[in-house]
Amino acid sequence: MPPLLNPRLSLSLKPFFLFSQSSFAPRKFQISRQFVSVKSRTFSSLASEQSSDNGGSSVGGGRSGALSPSLVTGEVQRIDVNPPKGTRDFPPEDMRLRNWLFHHFREVSRLFGFEEVDYPVLESEALFIRKAGEEIRDQLYCFEDRGNRRVALRPELTPSLARLVIQKGKSLSLPLKWFAIGQCWRYERMTRGRRREHYQWNMDILGVPEVTDISGSILIAEAELMASIVAFFKRIGITESDVGFKVSSRKVLQEVLRCYSVPENLFGKVCIIIDKMEKIPIDEIKRELNATGLSEEAIEELLQVLSIKSLTKLEEILGGAGEAIADLKQLFSLAEKFGYSEWIQFDASVVRGLAYYTGIVFEGFDRDGKLRAICGGGRYDRLLSTFGGDDVPACGFGFGDAVVIELLKEKGLLPELSLEVDNIVCALDHDLQGVAATVATKLRDKGLSVDLVLENKPLKWVFKRAARIKAQRLILVGNTEWQKGMVVVKVLSSGEQYEIKLDELE
Ligand code: HAM
Repeated sequence: MPPLLNPRLSLSLKPFFLFSQSSFAPRKFQISRQFVSVKSRTFSSLASEQSSDNGGSSVGGGRSGALSPSLVTGEVQRIDVNPPKGTRDFPPEDMRLRNWLFHHFREVSRLFGFEEVDYPVLESEALFIRKAGEEIRDQLYCFEDRGNRRVALRPELTPSLARLVIQKGKSLSLPLKWFAIGQCWRYERMTRGRRREHYQWNMDILGVPEVTDISGSILIAEAELMASIVAFFKRIGITESDVGFKVSSRKVLQEVLRCYSVPENLFGKVCIIIDKMEKIPIDEIKRELNATGLSEEAIEELLQVLSIKSLTKLEEILGGAGEAIADLKQLFSLAEKFGYSEWIQFDASVVRGLAYYTGIVFEGFDRDGKLRAICGGGRYDRLLSTFGGDDVPACGFGFGDAVVIELLKEKGLLPELSLEVDNIVCALDHDLQGVAATVATKLRDKGLSVDLVLENKPLKWVFKRAARIKAQRLILVGNTEWQKGMVVVKVLSSGEQYEIKLDELE
């Protein structure tokens, strides 16, 4: 015969602060010990018994009883428990942050009408081999697979996008607006926010040329892409006083190089060298530029132009007729229409470190100057033909997860995220575990989340857990109530407590 009044349930009827100093507490422990001694004393039940005695602070009490390798193989292989240098584990608290960030990436992409795509993390190495001497090439994680194929972990997503667009060919209807969130690998020197593995949010528009006239209005894909990044920053609490975009056009460089009759095929190489300006001494830059065949006069002119930070000044030097000035002016005027002019500034030194850009280029930076680029992108109209496909006008950006997290930390804007569960369901007697499972299933079928207490735990432990997982309700299945087909519901925010028929529980 089950006892008429379950002692654990009678405790539950008191407010929680009474539990902590309750004179009943020792009895509670007694009960759980009795249970352990009556039932078979397994490894994990012993461990949980121990954790109860410690005040029940260890949620996974059974862990200490896990079989060690020595029991399985007779050998102990001591391993480094840290992940490989430059890579990350994502324990639940970090995973929550990552999901929060990705949720905003996805939401912004959805707001702008983009479709999500993905590609394999492992690609053919050839996809990433370009001859312009990019840093990214030297940072490649590449190897030969068991079938003697040269493969690489993708360092970026853009070449995979190009591959897929070529593969799909005419079946795709342009313009394409695609976004992806994927892990990228670069054997990079580690600095704050720069890692050997990072996730990148990419948004790319294919099939919209630099300037399109539609009923008299001018639409530029680049401006739309920057608008989406601004929308993202706003959502996470970052303002124009925290970050800005440095914008330029590769055509600026092209025009200077053309004046000095520098062959077109050297253009990519020159851009890559210039992109290193903030990382290596200027004499080294000059030496590298000279090695490509540029005259000293051309180099001096180039460096002078690159130091320009105003469009008016650039116009004075290059003249107003060139495409570079026209594109940039249009972009700045569109930024005004989109409402983000205070976020962007012209800076001729921005060229980007990837060879494939052909027009507007931009980078997001923190105004305190503490971090490396937050995001970057631009127009790459000729990438597809380098893979043997037909060129399609294209532009896009990549936005890493690591730098923006550093920025949020700097600004004290990291969100507080904790596990949030609707209900915690607990059987007050081992015999009622099956009923608790039925209660949990019923609630889950209604779309409510349930943390089912899987072990026989004291109520003090259950309350602590409920608080930790931010449960809204505690549902207790006790003998006395269950004989009437009822369970006890405790609303944790208000302390309100009532009995309810299982059928009416929702
Ligand atoms: P990217 O400038 O090389 O461009 O990378 C874009 C962003 O990815 C950077 O601004 C940074 O936020 C993040 N990132 C890059 N490397 C690392 C790293 N080692 N650790 C942490 N974060 C990193 C591209 O990758 C282009 N494919 C972007 C693009 C898309 N252009 C057109 N479409």
